[in-house]
Amino acid sequence: MGENMGSTTPPSVPGTFILTRPTDAERRRTWSLTHPLWGPALRHEDYVEREVYLTTVPLAKEGGLSQWILTDPSLPPNERPILSSCETLRKRAIRARPDGSVEDGIAHGIGAVFTDAQYRGRGYANRLMRELGLRLRTWQGESKRRNSNPDEVFCSVLYSDIGKTFYAKLGWAPYPSSHVAFPPVSGAESGLAPQDGYRGAKARPIGYHELAELCCADERLLRERVARTARESGRTAVALLPDLDQILWHLMREDYMMKRIFGRTPSVRGAVYGEKGRRVWAVWTRAYYGGLEKREGNTLHLLRVVVEDEEGMEEREVVEGFTEIVRIAQCEATEWCLQECQMWNPTGLLRRVVEGCGLECAFVEREGESIASLMWYGEGTTEGVEWVANEKFGWC
Ligand SMILES: CC(C)(COP(=O)(O)OP(=O)(O)OC[C@H]1O[C@@H](n2cnc3c(N)ncnc32)[C@H](O)[C@@H]1OP(=O)(O)O)[C@@H](O)C(=O)NCCC(=O)NCCS
Repeated sequence: MGENMGSTTPPSVPGTFILTRPTDAERRRTWSLTHPLWGPALRHEDYVEREVYLTTVPLAKEGGLSQWILTDPSLPPNERPILSSCETLRKRAIRARPDGSVEDGIAHGIGAVFTDAQYRGRGYANRLMRELGLRLRTWQGESKRRNSNPDEVFCSVLYSDIGKTFYAKLGWAPYPSSHVAFPPVSGAESGLAPQDGYRGAKARPIGYHELAELCCADERLLRERVARTARESGRTAVALLPDLDQILWHLMREDYMMKRIFGRTPSVRGAVYGEKGRRVWAVWTRAYYGGLEKREGNTLHLLRVVVEDEEGMEEREVVEGFTEIVRIAQCEATEWCLQECQMWNPTGLLRRVVEGCGLECAFVEREGESIASLMWYGEGTTEGVEWVANEKFGWC
């Protein structure tokens, strides 16, 4: 591919663009272009290598990840301009109807929407997304049948960093996008012993090997919750599944970054409180955008927070469990140079628990960044759909 390929004059007639899949060389070119924006914590070659690595991890591997470009079909691959680009990740999802019946299907997560600076403001991202919204309706899915079809595409989701209107105009409706932020607290301040594996703490750290069982338990509970939500609201309810692959995608991405930034990977992936059947747990990931030079925005994200027996546990037991888990998260944030811990969209019991836990925290309604947005492909309108467990684990 020629070095000046990006400067090929794009066609001016709107109808001559196509949405298509990039070649390997075009994918690399896209990653090179996005490095200054999304990879300043890494050297250029490490960022590109990370993106290659991220095509091989759970969720993305075996065709789970798809890259897309908007280009000029009159030019051959590798010689055509990349006018705008993005990628999608296939995720498992469940849908419940108001009668409480639950079906399995697919949700596509969209990320990395990007137009090179020289092409901005000409409508290319609009065009890319309009075409993509339509394409994803059937992408990797089977045509809709009456009976449950595990390959039916229910929806596509994205997390807008450019506010609420751009994607809403194209059909992705903004959903609740709030979080609660907890400051880092050192082990010395909190009386916890991170260097000793949190020995003596009331909550226990979660390691890689414990995730599989926790994800299975979570999925079982979430199926019930989605069914209950649909029955009680009389609306269709949907949830992305926080299954092991979904969580591992975050953790392996995190490991890659940690290895480059710290030369080692963390062992504490979350924390759990209580005995089986009455547990509270959270799984988390550490995100570094500016590396250690520019720490603002470096965040410990609680990917998913679960209360195992919402009916059977007393609220003060849940409050204690949650508090002990967050204390470990705060300590980890200090250990790994993070600015805060974030938990997205706590609702119902968890909202009350956050308010009642007594820890210093701030509630934030996001207006410009990570706006959770959803386009519905099933029956009815997007506005008629309840998004259950709209938490950080779904982000990509
Ligand atoms: C956002 C981006 C993809 C838009 O690409 P583009 O090809 O210039 O977009 P279009 O020409 O189709 O549309 C321009 C629209 O984007 C809006 N826009 C661009 N950047 C924006 C920003 N930071 N905040 C809010 N709106 C923005 C413009 O206001 C304009 O709105 P309009 O459609 O109502 O006129 C491009 O600016 C970009 O790559 N930015 C850096 C990466 C990024 O932020 N990606 C989005 C991640 S969710």
